Amino acid sequence: MDYTALASIAIDKLKYSYTPYSGFNVAAALLTEDGKVYFGVNIENAAYTPSNCAERTAFFKAVSEGERHFKAIAVAGCRKSHLETREYKEQSRLPALCPPCGVCRQVMREFCDPETFDVVLVSGKDDYRVMKLKELLPESFGPEFVID
Ligand code: THU
Repeated sequence: MDYTALASIAIDKLKYSYTPYSGFNVAAALLTEDGKVYFGVNIENAAYTPSNCAERTAFFKAVSEGERHFKAIAVAGCRKSHLETREYKEQSRLPALCPPCGVCRQVMREFCDPETFDVVLVSGKDDYRVMKLKELLPESFGPEFVID
């Protein structure tokens, strides 16, 4: 699966976000080393703090299915109201990139090599910026600090 296809999945899943509080939808498509895709969306909560980001939903779905080796994650985000525009419906265009929050970057760090894992920031099906996890989370703390 190439990153155009991965970006396309993230854009298409934005409608599944549960965002009655922020109205900001995020979707992520996580690609395993052997080519499987797990997608996730943000899921909010009336008590606010139990809310979960799209990236972590995707990781936790995959890890809980036994996956441990990941190649890339595509992330797309926009205000829910944007999903009703012609720009989105006809061209799959998003107004801006949606960089992952710090907590999600740390979750990626738990399971991915920061030197090789690609974070695909999506603004359209053929329009995205690829960054290494190391660029988004420099000088990071990870499992090798803790485990012998
Ligand atoms: N959000 C994500 O799902 N991923 C991110 O990396 C940034 C923020 C969600 C959390 C909340 O539901 C909404 O976007 C607004 O912050």
